[in-house]
Amino acid sequence: MTLFDEAPDAPEPDDDQSWDQVRHRATRCRACPLWQPATQTVFGEGPVPAQVMLVGEQPGDQEDKAGRPFVGPAGEILDRALADLDVDRGALYVTNAVKHFKFEPRGKRRIHQTPNAGEVQACHPWITAELALVRPRLVVVMGATAARSLLGSKFRVTKQHGVAVPSLHAEVVTATIHPSAVLRVPPAVREQTYDGMVADLRASFALVS
Ligand code: URA
Repeated sequence: MTLFDEAPDAPEPDDDQSWDQVRHRATRCRACPLWQPATQTVFGEGPVPAQVMLVGEQPGDQEDKAGRPFVGPAGEILDRALADLDVDRGALYVTNAVKHFKFEPRGKRRIHQTPNAGEVQACHPWITAELALVRPRLVVVMGATAARSLLGSKFRVTKQHGVAVPSLHAEVVTATIHPSAVLRVPPAVREQTYDGMVADLRASFALVS
């Protein structure tokens, strides 16, 4: 049995459901084992429809507890970037390729683990459903996991960031680094890395404005 077969709650492509219904179904998703240790499904949030969809990797520790995407340290970086670009986050739909927090317990801490290809694939019906409902003109994938989900495993964010990528997901699809990458690089190159992400986002937004 594949992971897809184990997903009784995954939406069918021809389902005619509202965002609320899909979100509700996602709360019960058992398509991969990540639901078990996680606190809850963290679905996307924002207006439906929306002109722009930002796609991250997966909820982190704080998102898992809050039930909302990008409310922890990576969210602070994203919020700073959007403020620098004078873009209202409330106008964007923000989501993740994987809807449950994958972590390894270490003492009292929960250490982020990158979702594997099967987990990304198991979650794919949800991002597909979000795309169908939100119908964004622009999709920005942030980081390798989001790129893997929507652009395939051969896509390289390091080489193909900040430019439109051929894709059927939206009129314009672009990629940039994940906001948490800004926090992981050495302090000496942190601002430069941040500026690169902001430049990618600026170029992406310009393609649809
Ligand atoms: N990292 C992500 O990719 N998404 C979140 O929601 C938080 C951290």
